Amino acid sequence: MQTQTAAMTLSDRADALEEHMMHELEHIITKSVLFNLADGKVEMEGGAALQAKHPGKYMLMGADPRLPQMPEKPTLIDYFKCRFASTAHLLQSATHALKAGHNEKVVLACLLHDVAVVSFIRCDHGYWGAQMIEPYVDEEVSWAVRAHQALRFFPDESAGYAYPDMYVKYFGPDYQPEPYIVEEYKRARNHRHYMTARLICVNDIYSFDPNAKVNLDDFVDIIGRNFKQPKEGLGLDSSPSAHMWRTMLWPTRFL
Ligand SMILES: [Fe+2]
Ligand SMILES: [Fe+2]
Repeated sequence: MQTQTAAMTLSDRADALEEHMMHELEHIITKSVLFNLADGKVEMEGGAALQAKHPGKYMLMGADPRLPQMPEKPTLIDYFKCRFASTAHLLQSATHALKAGHNEKVVLACLLHDVAVVSFIRCDHGYWGAQMIEPYVDEEVSWAVRAHQALRFFPDESAGYAYPDMYVKYFGPDYQPEPYIVEEYKRARNHRHYMTARLICVNDIYSFDPNAKVNLDDFVDIIGRNFKQPKEGLGLDSSPSAHMWRTMLWPTRFL
């Protein structure tokens, strides 16, 4: 006869472990629906059920103690250090752009082009990333970050950009972008900032070298000159995308 543990699926065991960890914490930490969707579940736990499972505890309404502590008035650099799961690709991409002699807007666009991938969500990351940075950067930078979502699927030999071999490897030889991406590409083609977005793609595909030496310090001045840091702290201001940064600050807050 199987023991109970052996009979549990891997995902049951992960849930049990998570449950155990939750009991160690002072507050009830909730997963939003999106986190559950990513586990293949269309479900959420209501407040009453959660409190019944964790008697005597309140919902978490602030910082998640399991995550690195952010300063009181966080800057973009703090997010790089404490919230971005990986920065090598962004730094390599921006370093390429810097060495190629591109202007600061192009360098910043490269530095931030996958900001959504490393901190928020992969799907439509160009759109999410652009929205996150839009209130704080020149319109050229956020436009380019948004457009790279579509442009990277379409070659432009004149700019030195071929369809990436990596995409054939990742998505298979028959992958076709969705119709909305094709339409976005057509619109972007004639936009005055087309080349800025195209340069994101050009600097992008070379930027996965695990041995490349890169340093965020090289970009502190460029960020300082081109990213409008709100005095209240990034996310604690009243910009139209401040709530997105707050969500990264406090991703498990109950409401
Ligand atoms: Fe990207
Ligand atoms: Fe990228």
